[in-house]
Amino acid sequence: MKSILIVVLCFGSILVYHCKNPTVESDYYNPEVLATHDNGEKFVGSETCMECHANIYTDHLKTAHHRTSLLANDSTILGSFDPGSNVLDLEYVKFTMERRLDSFYQHTAYKNRLKKSPPSSFDIVIGSGVMGQTYLTWEEDKLFQLQSSYHKPADSWVNSPGFPTYAIQRPVRDGCIKCHVTFAKNRNIREGNQYDREKILYGIECERCHRPAARHVIYHRKHPEAKMAKFMVNIDSLTRQQRLDVCAQCHSGPQNEQLKGNPFSFLTGENLNEYSRNSGPMSSTETLDVHGNQYGLLTRSECFKQTQTMDCTTCHDPHKNQRGDTEYFNHKCMQCHVAETKKPFVVQDHLEVVGNDCISCHMPKMRSQSISIKLTGKDSISSSFSIRTHFIKVYKDSLVLP
Ligand code: HEC
Ligand code: HEC
Ligand code: HEC
Ligand code: HEC
Ligand code: HEC
Ligand code: HEC
Ligand code: HEC
Repeated sequence: MKSILIVVLCFGSILVYHCKNPTVESDYYNPEVLATHDNGEKFVGSETCMECHANIYTDHLKTAHHRTSLLANDSTILGSFDPGSNVLDLEYVKFTMERRLDSFYQHTAYKNRLKKSPPSSFDIVIGSGVMGQTYLTWEEDKLFQLQSSYHKPADSWVNSPGFPTYAIQRPVRDGCIKCHVTFAKNRNIREGNQYDREKILYGIECERCHRPAARHVIYHRKHPEAKMAKFMVNIDSLTRQQRLDVCAQCHSGPQNEQLKGNPFSFLTGENLNEYSRNSGPMSSTETLDVHGNQYGLLTRSECFKQTQTMDCTTCHDPHKNQRGDTEYFNHKCMQCHVAETKKPFVVQDHLEVVGNDCISCHMPKMRSQSISIKLTGKDSISSSFSIRTHFIKVYKDSLVLP
């Protein structure tokens, strides 16, 4: 009798709780809105996608896109804070990096001057670390780039690219972070570096390539039986140019001339050339810098020009980390360059002589011409990055054929 009473009481209280908190269910249908795009569409963040697209979500966490901007902490900052390797010594200024519990600081010591400035904290990390990282700091709600950057090949601190050998503060505006975050809301167009700190969406996340997805999530939570995607652009059904534009917004040079809206206005399914373009002529060597122009190079290649369908996803799965997977990429070449078909073709002899590593000869790694880094110290060793060119062709110089 007693236990029945307890069970009844329990159910009763659960019922009362649910009646008093009717929001519990609608909270589920209405995901938390993290930011609102200028066109009114709402961002809900990648974690929301996990419940229905679990595999894509877990793969995505391993990509350079996800890791390209993160909050600064012990595991995201690659530069060293250990005494001895925590210094960037330039001509007129010396920076020392210090760790205090969970916070990280850059101290500035001016040479030949008494001036002092307070330490700047490492707040945001830019760069997954393939080539290097740059760090951003907040002053109130204004964003600045720290002068100390990290250079991966040398595993050391370096002067940030383009900075002089004396101390400066460089404001970070939309034109810089537009390719390294999903979304940010600039609060002051004139100053340019004032942001809603809580509304920056770090990483290049699902909704940067698939548009803000609140309506999609709400619909599919309410209709778990629906098999066809609602309120979501189907990228495969876009024109080739629109599919290329998804990637070209960040991989076709600086796109520094804004024709319409702001650097975050363009969304997948629209035409990039209505929003922005590169100012000035772009030659293929100029564009081969760390902020590369894979789009410009690929579209000059015969593989691209002589097919109707080739785009970035012909060779890349945008959800996966495929860096270094040479076998996978060579296999992609073979999808078109098989011996049997007439054109395009690879003569069987060619294959027998050179083997299968197509990309090492036809997409060779090349040194960046435009960004070189001065390493620490007065010896000013400069070093640059090697990037694989997307201008696919025969490089006679690298000829190893008999
Ligand atoms: C409640 C479940 C649910 C959630 C949450 C969800 N989706 Fe979907 N999504 C679906 C279903 C169902 C489909 C259709 C079947 C499929 O393609 O997997 C779909 C399809 C898609 C497609 C393919 C569209 C097409 O036509 O090619 C994309 C892209 C997509 N979702 C992106 C997202 C993103 C980004 C998020 C997170 C912001 C998200 N989805 C969250 C259920 C969901
Ligand atoms: C919002 C800007 C943005 C968009 C959109 C974008 N990328 Fe990227 N991509 C980047 C940045 C920034 C990096 C460098 C990330 C890093 O290493 O910190 C990058 C890196 C990459 C890499 C190198 C990955 C690695 O492991 O080092 C590939 C490949 C790539 N992108 C392909 C694509 C393709 C394909 C698309 C379109 C489907 C695309 N990107 C869309 C900004 C973007
Ligand atoms: C037009 C898009 C674009 C803009 C603007 C841009 N970047 Fe990048 N950035 C990229 C891409 C793409 C890469 C990857 C290298 C490549 O594709 O050649 C990259 C690479 C980097 C890397 C190296 C990442 C790594 O993992 O090695 C750093 C650091 C970086 N950018 C910092 C910055 C800073 C700081 C600014 C602003 C002053 C900036 N970027 C502006 C697109 C951009
Ligand atoms: C760098 C851009 C980019 C990012 C980031 C990205 N996607 Fe995609 N996604 C694409 C492109 C491009 C396609 C079309 C692929 C194709 O045609 O091969 C696609 C296709 C899809 C599809 C339908 C086809 C499939 O593979 O099932 C789903 C679902 C999807 N994405 C979900 C997501 C989710 C969820 C995330 C975040 C965890 C995400 N995407 C992040 C570019 C991106
Ligand atoms: C979507 C199909 C397709 C893919 C994938 C493809 N190609 Fe091609 N490629 C072509 C076509 C078509 C041509 C032009 C053939 C002709 O002129 O006879 C071509 C031409 C070439 C040429 C000769 C270029 C010139 O300037 O004469 C080389 C070299 C080449 N491809 C290498 C590659 C390599 C390496 C890969 C993989 C990284 C690749 N292709 C992937 C379709 C493709
Ligand atoms: C014909 C195949 C092919 C196509 C098409 C293609 N890529 Fe690539 N991409 C590659 C290969 C191969 C690599 C080198 C991968 C590696 O070494 O791990 C690469 C590497 C990259 C990298 C990293 C560069 C570096 O060295 O750091 C970026 C960024 C990139 N691709 C973006 C794009 C974009 C954007 C497009 C569309 C405009 C595109 N790719 C189209 C084959 C292709
Ligand atoms: C060791 C370097 C090397 C490797 C590896 C290599 N190639 Fe080549 N490839 C060349 C050279 C050099 C030529 C020019 C040959 C000539 O003009 O006689 C060439 C020519 C070509 C052509 C143009 C053929 C024509 O007659 O127009 C295509 C297409 C091609 N290669 C595709 C590939 C593919 C696909 C792979 C991978 C299976 C590959 N190559 C691997 C060096 C290489």
